[in-house]
Amino acid sequence: MSSGPEPQPSGFGFYRPGQPDRPPGTTGPPAAAEPREPTADPVVIDDSAELDLSSDEVAAAVERTLATLDAELVGLSGVKRRVREIAALLLVDRARRQFGLESSRPTLHMSFTGGPGTGKTTVALRMAQILHALGYVRSPKMHTVTRDDLVGQFIGHTAPKTKEAIAKAAGGVLFIDEAYYLHRPENERDYGQEVIEILLTEMENERGSLVVIFAGYPDRMSTFFAANPGLSSRVPHHIEFEDYTHQELTQIADLMVAAENFRFDDAARAAFSEYLDIRMAQPRFSNARSVRNAIERTRLRQARRLVELNRPLTKDDLITLTAQDIYGSSLFATRGAVATPEAVG
Ligand SMILES: Nc1ncnc2c1ncn2[C@@H]1O[C@H](COP(=O)(O)OP(=O)(O)O)[C@@H](O)[C@H]1O
Ligand SMILES: [Mg+2]
Repeated sequence: MSSGPEPQPSGFGFYRPGQPDRPPGTTGPPAAAEPREPTADPVVIDDSAELDLSSDEVAAAVERTLATLDAELVGLSGVKRRVREIAALLLVDRARRQFGLESSRPTLHMSFTGGPGTGKTTVALRMAQILHALGYVRSPKMHTVTRDDLVGQFIGHTAPKTKEAIAKAAGGVLFIDEAYYLHRPENERDYGQEVIEILLTEMENERGSLVVIFAGYPDRMSTFFAANPGLSSRVPHHIEFEDYTHQELTQIADLMVAAENFRFDDAARAAFSEYLDIRMAQPRFSNARSVRNAIERTRLRQARRLVELNRPLTKDDLITLTAQDIYGSSLFATRGAVATPEAVG
């Protein structure tokens, strides 16, 4: 397995020179030009010493990522707590190694279960940064795949495809979206099983520097793990993402609108709340993703309205999304009728 084109030096505790998964040329001090988080190799300190995590630079870098996660994501308190727990585990593990206390490398393969648009991908990206800051993986990058990226169509095609994906993710996080599609019990000779076996070998490799995150709907994921106990036993961390409440989705909308330098006026905010009531009850509602899409279409209608005004525009005009921009959605036009989700604007 090649470790991919990743020239970053690591110097982290888990990557001691000479380890097989450490890319060539990463021993010795990091290149001066490389901007990186402070992540010095733990040194063995005296037994009587005390370690102050609050003044630790690595702890501070992790705290910054956790703070970003808190600020950029509405709600998800359970998820945020689990992410903090994992960060704490690694911080303490690192502190123990600084005292020369050897222990086995924690297994950090995970499953992220929840409906679409509940923040799984977003949190996984942050998780990759945290694992990197704590020296668990040598790259903060995440490689996202689905069944089609791993499974070949013909005999002999699957192993190379899967190994290529693993090589791309090497040193970071491999995020397998809708992982249960790898398992097709109705098809005895499905190549998905081959992928699972290769992954298993990779995940069991103690010295490997790959973290695998399996993501998808909770019910299908538990069926998938039940059918693959070997895999399940290598995934100790299960993090559940709840559907958002109406109130959380409204807050998410405000956050997204503000991030793009727009704002809802009061009537628009009320209209958007109404929009959500209707949209949430429809098929294929995708939580925060549906909110993002709705805002995109609201911007389109704002743009059309502004162009049709045929007058000079103020900064306020350009910033403000109005109730009219929201009520223009076909969702209101089809209210009472049977709306096809694809046609929902
Ligand atoms: N709690 C949240 N607060 C703000 N934005 C969110 C939140 N959860 C998801 N989003 C946004 O919604 C979109 C979809 O999220 P994503 O992480 O891709 O969901 P998933 O991977 O579960 O389908 C992204 O643009 C993301 O930034
Ligand atoms: Mg996703």
